[in-house]
Amino acid sequence: MAKKITDSVYYVGSRHWDRRLFDELIPLPDGTTYNSYVVIGSEKTALVDSVDPSKVHELLGNLEEIGLDRIDYIISNHAEQDHSGAIPTLLEKFPMAKVVTNQKCKGFLKDLLMIEDGKFLIVDDRDTLSLGNKTLEFILASWVHWPETMFTYLREDGILFSCDFLGSHLATSQLFASKEPKVYESAKRYYAEIMMPFRNMIKNHLKRLNEYDIRIVAPSHGPIYDDPEFIINAYKDWISDEVKNEVVIVYVSMHDSTKVAVEYLIKKLEGKNIIVKPFNLTVSDLGEIAMALVDAATVIVASPTVLTGLHPYAANVVFLLNALRPKTRFISLISSYGWGSKIVDQTKQLLTNLKVEFLEPVLIKGYPKDSDLKELDELVENLHEKHKNLMKI
Ligand code: FEO
Repeated sequence: MAKKITDSVYYVGSRHWDRRLFDELIPLPDGTTYNSYVVIGSEKTALVDSVDPSKVHELLGNLEEIGLDRIDYIISNHAEQDHSGAIPTLLEKFPMAKVVTNQKCKGFLKDLLMIEDGKFLIVDDRDTLSLGNKTLEFILASWVHWPETMFTYLREDGILFSCDFLGSHLATSQLFASKEPKVYESAKRYYAEIMMPFRNMIKNHLKRLNEYDIRIVAPSHGPIYDDPEFIINAYKDWISDEVKNEVVIVYVSMHDSTKVAVEYLIKKLEGKNIIVKPFNLTVSDLGEIAMALVDAATVIVASPTVLTGLHPYAANVVFLLNALRPKTRFISLISSYGWGSKIVDQTKQLLTNLKVEFLEPVLIKGYPKDSDLKELDELVENLHEKHKNLMKI
């Protein structure tokens, strides 16, 4: 249903309660929403972003509910189809409407949705669009998380329509985010999965946003923030260069040899007051792993050697680690092998994006023996020293 945000702004998006996978990759334990907003000025009306094409009927129903029979502008902050996919249907219903976006986004919209050239009104960074008594300002914000992304700022109401940025995959009846741990966790999961590779870009975008009086953050997924500091401060923490005294262990074990080594390692790390976040890859949610990677100083990959290389589950997560580019400082590897292993070289080759220090791996022939446990002790000592020096703990 449509919901009023301010006297001139309505939420007209859609909740997708039972969607469980995004991009056929990202788990959605709490569903998601596709947020679309209407801004009604004294002379013109604008729709900010649309919805996933599967939910276009809900968007049209919401527009009807608020009695909207005219849209002058469809603002497209981002061309990915979960926000742009309903634009062709909207243009059929509102043929006079112009799609307002930047030049790069126009290219994507033409490629993805075959929208005709004549339908566009192109804007650039800091350009404004008057709706009469309301003014929209456009802020180009490339790489959060596509190159064409922009934000739209409604000056008179202090609302930042931030697109995917600052959003969360969380379907809820609450229009506004409270400061509940659940909201924080969903936003952190979203940051980890979608935004983390662009940490350095985000630093610049957040800095630019300091210039704006932002009273409401209205992202395109999840609840709206009526206390923008809540989400902006969370982002500042996540993107900072600081890491925490934490070790993420991603592991898989075929005949328990690797598992025994992992369990020993957990006990020893905890003995040094290091927080350990272990993930058995046969049962773990990729989003949980991504979230743990936001803060951890160290990642340890533990995998049996399979056909001289990583177990495919471990290779999958190492590939993901490389793509997500967390601020992890140290990486090590534990592997039980039978006859030969090229696992160390293979892992290093898969992690070329990361600026990390590789600590001495522990390669175990068969079941861990006293000499192997001693090597694990040395790894823990080494890690403990590294963490102490880095974090002054
Ligand atoms: Fe929610 Fe990048 O789309």
